[in-house]
Amino acid sequence: MTEAKRLAGEKAIDYIEDGMIVGVGTGSTVAYFIDALGRNKERIKGAVSSSEQSTARLKALGIEVLDLNATGPLSLYVDGADECDPHKRLIKGGGAALTREKIIAEASAKFVCIVDPAKRVDVLGKFPLPVEVIPMARSLVAREILGMTRAQPVWRENVVTDNGNWILDIHGLAITDPVALETAINQIPGVVSVGLFARRAADVVIVGGEPPIVM
Ligand code: A5P
Repeated sequence: MTEAKRLAGEKAIDYIEDGMIVGVGTGSTVAYFIDALGRNKERIKGAVSSSEQSTARLKALGIEVLDLNATGPLSLYVDGADECDPHKRLIKGGGAALTREKIIAEASAKFVCIVDPAKRVDVLGKFPLPVEVIPMARSLVAREILGMTRAQPVWRENVVTDNGNWILDIHGLAITDPVALETAINQIPGVVSVGLFARRAADVVIVGGEPPIVM
């Protein structure tokens, strides 16, 4: 899958336009995109980063990292996913960066998602759905989600997000209405964000391969 991730990450460079500020996601596929961005850094003004991990990689390559409050809306966001359905709806947050990823996706005119073929599914939910929660609300949110879905939330122990919060992973879902589930989980007090990207799905999905498939 490493080769597929590299091919997807490098293909996303096709979406770069000169003078752009690029929104940058998180994960092993995005790492290939960042490396390719480094080889094209003269073409861009800088990047807005979704995690401390991506910020470090961008800065190491000499790419300026900018604050989203200063840049305003972005024209392009490139990020990976843990699952992707045929409608380009996603599960994200395996790397615990879902909240900042969701903010940048919302702020961007075009969201290009880069995945390896194993991420494609017909129905989302086999990958445990991450939910970022305020620490004091962990068990409250877990109980509410169990009551709502009958699926099992599991605390991702020893993980603290870049925002100082915790992650619950919901196991055993088959998400037939992703927009409804995203909306319902967002209503629970203490939820910071849910790793369902359905209301704001990807606009383009690049599946790494020889050649890459663009959906
Ligand atoms: C980070 O929190 C996630 O949303 C990643 O985008 C996702 O886990 C994909 O990661 P890989 O590219 O490492 O598979």
